[in-house]
Amino acid sequence: MEYSEIEKKIAPDILDIASREFGDKVRLASSFGLEDMVLIDMVSKLKNPITIFTLDTGRLHEETYETMEKIRSRYGLEIVTFFPEREATEALVREKGFYSFRESVDNRKECCRIRKVEPLGRALQNLKAWVTGMRREQNVTRTEIAKAHPDEGHPGLIKINPLADWTEQDVLDYIAEHKVPTNPLHQRDFPSIGCSPCTRPIQPGEDIRAGRWWWENPEHKECGLHRPR
Ligand code: ADX
Ligand code: SF4
Repeated sequence: MEYSEIEKKIAPDILDIASREFGDKVRLASSFGLEDMVLIDMVSKLKNPITIFTLDTGRLHEETYETMEKIRSRYGLEIVTFFPEREATEALVREKGFYSFRESVDNRKECCRIRKVEPLGRALQNLKAWVTGMRREQNVTRTEIAKAHPDEGHPGLIKINPLADWTEQDVLDYIAEHKVPTNPLHQRDFPSIGCSPCTRPIQPGEDIRAGRWWWENPEHKECGLHRPR
């Protein structure tokens, strides 16, 4: 994969190239937010759709599960789910309770490590590349992401971000034009959706990720799935 060439391509073409170049060694990471739904719609139109995986932290909103079911019925696509490792999760809640992530950034990162980062490691095993819905506009930590680059967080893997240069409006326009199903929480002022206890609606004028880990500073707002570049 020639990174400088990928930078010039549009999202559906990038997905097509990834599917042809990596076959079953590339997967799409999805939390079923707006960007991921755009990618799922594009992937469903490929000759060989890229397999979707999700990290079910055990703390997702009910609406997110309903959205997954919509994808299964509308597109007939399989979703491969990874759960947190049982013993580590049981130890975490036994020792620190169900809301340890509110107590400090370290505790929050520990919960994300157990519920998201370790399962991601398993999800990426034996792959050559993975696709995400990250955009440069989303956060101060994401302003320089490339459309494809070697993943420093997972050496040997290529990370592909086909929507890196999309604006929020581009995403909304695509969803309207292609009648893409979305998580019903978006209608209730949740532009960015993660785990239920760590996501809340935003107020008018607030940043789109203001409702994620709202008690932390923006520079901390990464859960460890994505290394800031
Ligand atoms: S997060 O790091 O803050 O949680 P964000 O919600 O912005 O990430 O999502 C960015 C991209 O990370 C998504 O488009 C998706 O590709 C991937 N992602 C985030 N959460 C998950 C998840 N639970 N399962 C699979 N992929 C995820
Ligand atoms: Fe835990 Fe919250 Fe991270 Fe989800 S987002 S894994 S509940 S700290």
